[in-house]
Amino acid sequence: MAEVILPDGFLIGASTSAHQTEGGNVNSTWWMFEHRPGTPIAESSGDAADSWHRWPDDLDLVAEVGLNAYRFSIEWARIEPARDEISHAAVLHYGRIIDGARERGIEPIVTLHHFTEPRWFWEAGGWAAADAAERFARYVAALTPILQPVRWIVTINEPNMAAMMGRVSRRASSEDRAEEAKRDVPGAPLPAPDRPTAAGLTAAHRAAREVLGELVPSALTGWSIANQVVQAVPGGEEAAARFTEVIEDELLRESVGDDFVGVQSYTRTVFGPSGPVRDDPEETRTLMGWEYWPDALEQAVRHTHDVVGPMAILVTENGIATGDDTRRIAYTSSALAGLGRAMADGIDVRGYLHWSLLDNYEWGSYRPTFGLASWDPETFDRSPKPSANWLGGIAKGRRLPS
Ligand code: BGC
Repeated sequence: MAEVILPDGFLIGASTSAHQTEGGNVNSTWWMFEHRPGTPIAESSGDAADSWHRWPDDLDLVAEVGLNAYRFSIEWARIEPARDEISHAAVLHYGRIIDGARERGIEPIVTLHHFTEPRWFWEAGGWAAADAAERFARYVAALTPILQPVRWIVTINEPNMAAMMGRVSRRASSEDRAEEAKRDVPGAPLPAPDRPTAAGLTAAHRAAREVLGELVPSALTGWSIANQVVQAVPGGEEAAARFTEVIEDELLRESVGDDFVGVQSYTRTVFGPSGPVRDDPEETRTLMGWEYWPDALEQAVRHTHDVVGPMAILVTENGIATGDDTRRIAYTSSALAGLGRAMADGIDVRGYLHWSLLDNYEWGSYRPTFGLASWDPETFDRSPKPSANWLGGIAKGRRLPS
């Protein structure tokens, strides 16, 4: 296949999220879950990569290796540590990151919610509370002064995974839980997203879009969906179709009408006659235990396009947890080749953001390393891996691997 030459303005960069990199997010739900007596969570996020202080180093890293975009998230629990108490200092902190990106020639892609909320919000009923969307919209409105220079805003990261986590974190009666469990696909690797949580997130997304449409009219807004790339071998077709519907398509369809949709993809799930099947040898799996399957990105982009129709797609996450950086380059190179094939077929892809810029807190553990760069746990000094320069080279050369 011919090499894909990237159009002007195509973004090639890296992603992070606040709770996974900032450290010390003591007012967030996740910090609370990490520190509960008897928590099943193995490790606390602690200082993470100290990006709360080290954000200029993160931006320097992005610029130095030649990437042109950086996706990061704003922590609601820092902006509104107590109900109706906005920290203007925290708002300005994130404003400095946005300006700092622009000063370095980096396109900032800002996520407003990445899996964590303020504790007070959870205590008041979380996403299932009647005023959840309104609370989120007020938080978003408080950010609008600093969002003016931002072109790409992801309102909510992976609402489908956030709603799935809602199955555990939502305070629900046992009848309610039993009702939700009826939607699970037998044997599926993930439970179905919690409907009250999903409804709250969808309403919050719409409310945020309304606020942003009015107060930051130059921004493109959308959300990002986790793609499981569900496939079937003979006998698994029905389960695969049901799982695709509950785990992603229900919320993917809600993207129609947005300015873009974010695609996030890592691996695939294959169903056989009695549940998921896999024959990848254990030693070839990633540090997440996932199948090494770089074609997932191409399939995720094609599936998204099939479900939502002709709208702009931004790859907001794709990457691999590995201690072997050569493998990261090989994985990403194949994934980008697949992305090129989808683009050559006319799918409107506007950029690729690798997960992740840094090794980071993988929701319970620091063991799975997804980063283009590592950091010293005591000095927090960043060290780019060869993959960082390799991906920067693609951004500079403006050609996808074929
Ligand atoms: C999430 C990230 C996470 C990554 C790898 C995505 O689901 O948005 O926060 O670290 O996948 O598991």
